[in-house]
Amino acid sequence: MTNPVITLHPQQKGASLGDLYGIFFEDLNHAADGGLYAEMIQNRSFEFCPIDNPEYHGLYGWQNGAGQPLQAETLHVRVLEDAPLHANNTHYLKIDVNEGGELQNDGFNHGLALTKGAAYDFSLFARTPIEPVHFLVQLKEADGRILAQETVTATDREWQRYEGTLIAAETSTTARLALVFDGGTNIALDMISLFPQATFKNRKNGCRKDIAELLAAMKPKFMRFPGGCLVHDGSLNAEDRDSMYRWKNTVGPVEHRSARRNSWGYNQTLGLGFYEYFLLCEDLGAKPLPVLPAGWDPHHQRAVPIEELGEWIQDALDLIEFANGDPETKWGRLRSEMGHPEPFGMEYLAVGNEEVGQEFFDRYDHFHKAIREAYPEIQLINSAGPFAAGSEYERGWESARRNGSDLVDEHYYQTTDWLLANHDRYDHYPADGPKVFLGEYASWGNEWYNAAVEASYMIGLERNADKVGLACYAPMLANVDYVNWRPDMIWFDQSRVYGSMNYYVQQLFTKFQGTCNMGYEVSNLAAPKVLGANQITGGIGVVADNADISYRNVRIIDHLSGEEITPADGTIAKDQRVLFTEDFPGTDYTIAFEFEKTGGQWDRGFRLLFGEQDPDNTFAWLLGGWQNQDCMIRSVREGRISDITQTIWKVETGKRYSCELHVKDRQITTTINGVVMNEIEAKVPVVQQLYVNAVLDEAADKQYVKLVNVADAVTVSLEGITGEQLKVRSLSAAPDAVNDFETPENFTYSETEPVAAGGSVAIQLPQNSVVFVEISD
Ligand code: AHR
Repeated sequence: MTNPVITLHPQQKGASLGDLYGIFFEDLNHAADGGLYAEMIQNRSFEFCPIDNPEYHGLYGWQNGAGQPLQAETLHVRVLEDAPLHANNTHYLKIDVNEGGELQNDGFNHGLALTKGAAYDFSLFARTPIEPVHFLVQLKEADGRILAQETVTATDREWQRYEGTLIAAETSTTARLALVFDGGTNIALDMISLFPQATFKNRKNGCRKDIAELLAAMKPKFMRFPGGCLVHDGSLNAEDRDSMYRWKNTVGPVEHRSARRNSWGYNQTLGLGFYEYFLLCEDLGAKPLPVLPAGWDPHHQRAVPIEELGEWIQDALDLIEFANGDPETKWGRLRSEMGHPEPFGMEYLAVGNEEVGQEFFDRYDHFHKAIREAYPEIQLINSAGPFAAGSEYERGWESARRNGSDLVDEHYYQTTDWLLANHDRYDHYPADGPKVFLGEYASWGNEWYNAAVEASYMIGLERNADKVGLACYAPMLANVDYVNWRPDMIWFDQSRVYGSMNYYVQQLFTKFQGTCNMGYEVSNLAAPKVLGANQITGGIGVVADNADISYRNVRIIDHLSGEEITPADGTIAKDQRVLFTEDFPGTDYTIAFEFEKTGGQWDRGFRLLFGEQDPDNTFAWLLGGWQNQDCMIRSVREGRISDITQTIWKVETGKRYSCELHVKDRQITTTINGVVMNEIEAKVPVVQQLYVNAVLDEAADKQYVKLVNVADAVTVSLEGITGEQLKVRSLSAAPDAVNDFETPENFTYSETEPVAAGGSVAIQLPQNSVVFVEISD
């Protein structure tokens, strides 16, 4: 077998790579509070409440001196609302102890993380109704040993801020902050806060250094924030506890920000707010890319009437002023007062996050027009829903073309097979009109094989840099003890952090992005390996998703043999499945049936299974789906799912539907009551021998040849090398290898400097590897 040959043409410049690779921050998995936001105290302002999470209450996270949950009776503590610190910070703690007592907080995970000799800044607000109160602020080990201590004397009848610094005598991961009072104390407290002095870039109210440093090491070109579903999941009133994410709630002094329900089931202090996000972007050298809600909550079908959209559009205009406006302007002044007179230089703004429903697109038009008129220089991002194809995806692109959006935000989480099968997805996109912003994507897993396949997919993204403008892996951060979603790029607890395999791939691509594509040719490539069958054959049946379903008149018609199977009518309830045939061999067939949902959970429906090898390797037509919004084709491989196309649709209880699914080879078409609902080719996964792209970094005067191998080891001949210096960075691991706290770099990484002879060099690519060749003079 001959080796593949890559011939470089560095004098041929291709599309600009612009800001292609960035990062996406969403506060899920405790990514902000208990994560990147360096605040160590949980429930610092006694604002936790059951709307955030049914288990929460005002004293959540606080304990007495014996480490027991704080009860109002034990320390004579009460969470009160009269005369609060600020109208937005309505609760505070009132302590009235006769015999002395102690208040403890052990933060997130299982204790505060301290480093011996490091400094920790504490602060709190207090008011004392009668006379000065002296109390101790301590860092304590779980066994009671005192690791640092300061005395605070609160003197004022009005709310007053007190602060100090504690130096930890020992390293710990199980420490607490303790406030120790003598008998006869009567004091009100709020905003009891503890930060490590060493935050990222030493910012006050800043970010955790270790986590932010992993982000900085990527050198991301942009950062999308603050979500995700977090943005649009909520009520329409900005004052509500569970409102959609409204940026104005997140700026100004932290003690004036009203804590909110985070739609991922916890509390968000909003201490990491829009000002801090902009600052973080600046510190990372990443362009800010905020996402704003468009007045439509697709999860709860809540829509702002169009005639009341003005306030929401004004929020968008004001945000641009906050980021970029002169300090003389209203919102520019707030930014300046918060410490940043210089503008943040925001260039991108997204309206909406993977919204489904015409309601979003009706509203987007109004945002677009107003923002374009006022700020034509801002690049506006539209949304193409949460699926790779189908009605909302089409609607997003249609809206973007009609409005002239600069970019369209595509999202999909798929199997490695889907990424391999769709490697050429963007080869077929038009080069005119809006560009793609791949704002959320990942394969389902943190194993090395996932990361390597993502690398192969990224080759396809940058090869199409004339059509794909921006891309970021998602989600970014996860606290191991509070997981809402997996996989994630970076994992941490209160003291440790590690990058997943996927992180190291993202880091390579982002750090060595380059400024534009460069000419190259590839020859001698072996034929691609096909990983699946060219036809969808296998079992056919039905399953109920927590719903009561009756089905009848089922017909499975093989169009080639003319044979027909007619299973008996039946009923199924929650999770029950019935297989009509275990191994249907047809390659051109129709499954026709009628069904009715007769009861069960409101937001669940019914699935037709086809092409089933076993329950973990099957295809399904979902009629209802999550929140009863989907008519969707799903492919399941090794238990992991790819939703390959979706049309928005709702199953109504008591209504009979007449359905047909037609399969020809891998082409799938569905109809309901005669109307075409889905049309998609479930592409066969293929593995190329090699995935290649070459780029120039014009600023650094370097070339990068990016090679991804998701198959057997291979040697590549690299020809046409013009530079003297070569550096080969090679990343490889076993396909199922993962990183964790104990083995945070469970891969083989090498840097070598081979010498090119006559402009040519042989590069070895281990099995499943990502290899970047840097060429310079
Ligand atoms: O990234 C996790 C979630 O996935 C995001 O909140 C949402 O946009 C998507 O559905």
